[in-house]
Amino acid sequence: MAINVLSSKKGTIISKYIYGHFSEHLGRCIYEGIYVGDDSDIPNVNGMRTDVVEALKKIKIPVLRWPGGCFADEYHWKDGIGKKSERKKIVNTHWGGVTENNHFGTHEFFELVKQLECEAYVNGNVGSGTVQEMQEWVEYITMAGESPMANLRKDNGQEEPWKMRFFGVGNESWGCGGNMRPEYYSDLYRQYQTYVRQYSSEKIYKIACGPNVDDYNWMDVLMKNASPWFDGISLHHYALTGEWLNKGTATGFPKEEWWSLIKSANRMDELIRKHSIIMDKYDPEKRIGLIVDEWGSWLAVEPGSNPGFLYQQNTIRDAMVAAITLNIFNNHADRVYMANLAQTVNVLQSVILTEGHSMIKTPTYHVFDLYQNHQDAELIEYYGEIPENISLSISKKENKITITICNYNIENVENVSIDFETNVNNVKGRILAAEAMDAHNTFEKPNEVDVKEFTDISTNESEVEMALPPMSVIAVELDV
Ligand code: AHR
Repeated sequence: MAINVLSSKKGTIISKYIYGHFSEHLGRCIYEGIYVGDDSDIPNVNGMRTDVVEALKKIKIPVLRWPGGCFADEYHWKDGIGKKSERKKIVNTHWGGVTENNHFGTHEFFELVKQLECEAYVNGNVGSGTVQEMQEWVEYITMAGESPMANLRKDNGQEEPWKMRFFGVGNESWGCGGNMRPEYYSDLYRQYQTYVRQYSSEKIYKIACGPNVDDYNWMDVLMKNASPWFDGISLHHYALTGEWLNKGTATGFPKEEWWSLIKSANRMDELIRKHSIIMDKYDPEKRIGLIVDEWGSWLAVEPGSNPGFLYQQNTIRDAMVAAITLNIFNNHADRVYMANLAQTVNVLQSVILTEGHSMIKTPTYHVFDLYQNHQDAELIEYYGEIPENISLSISKKENKITITICNYNIENVENVSIDFETNVNNVKGRILAAEAMDAHNTFEKPNEVDVKEFTDISTNESEVEMALPPMSVIAVELDV
């Protein structure tokens, strides 16, 4: 297989926000996975697990979305401020009917964002919240001077406002966020966003609730009726092995489910292309970003775990899903501005799993590690004979090129030659690979699937040649 590299696609930068994450009040994501409270014997800083924060910082997570998800549309932010012992206890009706003690609220979220050195994406409540409630939350977070909400925040110990770049107006308003029709939601969006006021000089990037998967009508109605009032519109697509109600298992699956999950992940490309055609109709300048704020594998929960907690293992197959999807986002960087993997810790396709004091990095974590250089790099286009089971993207920062390439064949090695039409130097590669389709890390064997040096690579003037093992993700760096 020969791939020819073209020069960079003029002006297209791969937004670092494509490498974003999503953490909801769901199962053991926030509580246990991230927040253990400052009286926990699990090492923490102001309640945030040190091991998890450190691991997330290593992959440079650029943005974190919170508090949901479906939870966002029943979250009343005032329940989560003030003295912890006096915070209201509510029922998390979406996720297992468990008691939510609201110990992790606005102050804790911004503490987390500070520790992660990332940006905040807060999702507001349209489904069961009022316009006033949303307006006041934005005021509470971002108002510096004297105002009722700024004063309340100061009374709660936070003198300075926080930085909030991204704000979502509702989540899945077509489903768990209110079962609305697009005409109704687009009017509500226009109303609610009016009161997402600019209290600081940092412009708030407003995100409208976009379509579920291939609901092209939703995209069309939203773009037609409300696009002048939003900066971004969301898209949700989860990779499934088959029917929604009959999800395949995360480990011990047959070959067909390797392929069905991969096929579902690859569908992201078609979805982005088709939604982009609609967006282009109303926004040819591409001012509006497509925000894929929920994506990843959605598989059956681990046996014995609470079905409402969505806890699943994470294998080399999920690493393929991540590698393929991130390559798709990179290659559509002219429209995709942000993406948020669901969900950071202990839920769906997590980068981290925890059990008591222990923490492991999943194969998906390692993909985010391998892809780091793409953040805010220039997209490079390519053409050639690219076999069906190979996914790649290429970017450039100054004279450094990064190629991320994934061979999702189960058995075949794929020989690849990439011609840069200019001499290449200092080539080095790293690889994540496994021999079993469901290879994964466990608390007993945390490094079963890990990144290693990739040596099956050679250069010949302008050409890079490599033999890609099956079930592998490779990141190559070189200078031009
Ligand atoms: O990520 C889990 C759930 O999936 C989210 O809460 C919701 O937005 C989506 O349906």
